[in-house]
Amino acid sequence: MRDPGLAREVLHRPQDFSPANALVAVTPLTGASLRVLQRARFALPPILASNDTDSHAGIRKVVAGFFTPATVAAIEPRIRELARESARTAAALSLSSGALGDRIDLVDAVAALPPAILMLELLGIDVPGDELAALKAWSRESLELFWGWPDPDRQLELAHSAAEFYDWLRDLVDHSVVSPSRNLFGALDAHGLSNPAICSLGYFLLIAGQETTTQLISTVLFRVLEGSCSVTWAEASDPALAREAVRRVLATESSVPTWRRVAARETELGGETIPAGAEILLELTGNHRLAASGRPTDYGLAFGSGIHRCLGAKLAELEAAVVVHETAAALPRVRLADPAPEWIRLLSFQAPRMVTVERVNLEAT
Ligand code: HEM
Repeated sequence: MRDPGLAREVLHRPQDFSPANALVAVTPLTGASLRVLQRARFALPPILASNDTDSHAGIRKVVAGFFTPATVAAIEPRIRELARESARTAAALSLSSGALGDRIDLVDAVAALPPAILMLELLGIDVPGDELAALKAWSRESLELFWGWPDPDRQLELAHSAAEFYDWLRDLVDHSVVSPSRNLFGALDAHGLSNPAICSLGYFLLIAGQETTTQLISTVLFRVLEGSCSVTWAEASDPALAREAVRRVLATESSVPTWRRVAARETELGGETIPAGAEILLELTGNHRLAASGRPTDYGLAFGSGIHRCLGAKLAELEAAVVVHETAAALPRVRLADPAPEWIRLLSFQAPRMVTVERVNLEAT
């Protein structure tokens, strides 16, 4: 479904178009992969993103309590602190000589960790710093498992990764629900959710709440450095222009370019009959008017719409704008070292895997 108007209509008719297929593996799982997941008691019952029952609203309210506009606004200085710290470390590395000098991967250096650290801080969930690299790798591998087209061998590897992630998550949930400090898993427990239900939600949220933002930042950095964005690298050191670059990428090639729905019953859409059970792939980005209409909805579908609209939209946009701004400000004299990197290209996720830059040698220019 490419037409933004019809895509929005689908998202606003949840009785007709259910999100029940949101987390279904694009490539069916083989028996071997299923056995690995079953051994880890891996299960994704519908709790939030794929929940089309009446329980959705109450659970969403609990989660939304951790991402209120006031909470997001209050965390801005912390976002800036983390973004500045990683940007300055990257700048120092780019100035050093030796193996690490000259070339830096900005995905690793500035895009990867700040969104994960901030998400966990907002959720009140305590994850030791040395486990963050594992969280990042598990996230990427789970996205590939559920939204990619791995061959059976690769799928089995990814299933092992998802099982390991789930085991880790189960311990985290068990520990968090009895913790006296305010945290999302404890709040869901108080709302009446079982630990397996909290794990299902946690699995989705711990990935969606940070890896998508890392991917958005990666694409913005790449397009700005490439010179194919309306904002140049020098201009991106201005906060307002960094935000403009983020909004442009959200409209043209966001990290979540599509999302799925399934027809809950036979219904009509745009004058056509849609049979019950028909799966619909909605294009959320890339097909919107980019003209200077000034309408905030130009990129409005990037975060979905209606009762399941992304709860992290404001946070993600702010994080991306701050990281891009701080990086461009800290690294004024860099250019792309690899103009054709490999991209993550999954059904519903996309970004360059690396954004490698090198210092511009002013004497040579
Ligand atoms: C660039 C980053 C992000 C993008 C592009 C994105 C995109 C999306 C999309 C397309 C949906 C489905 C919406 C629908 O079905 O109408 C969604 C749902 C969701 N997102 Fe995000 N997201 C991002 C970051 C985040 C962050 C940072 C968080 C939280 C920290 C988050 C939390 C959620 C939640 C909880 C849902 C499910 C809401 C529900 O079903 O009621 N997302 N997101």
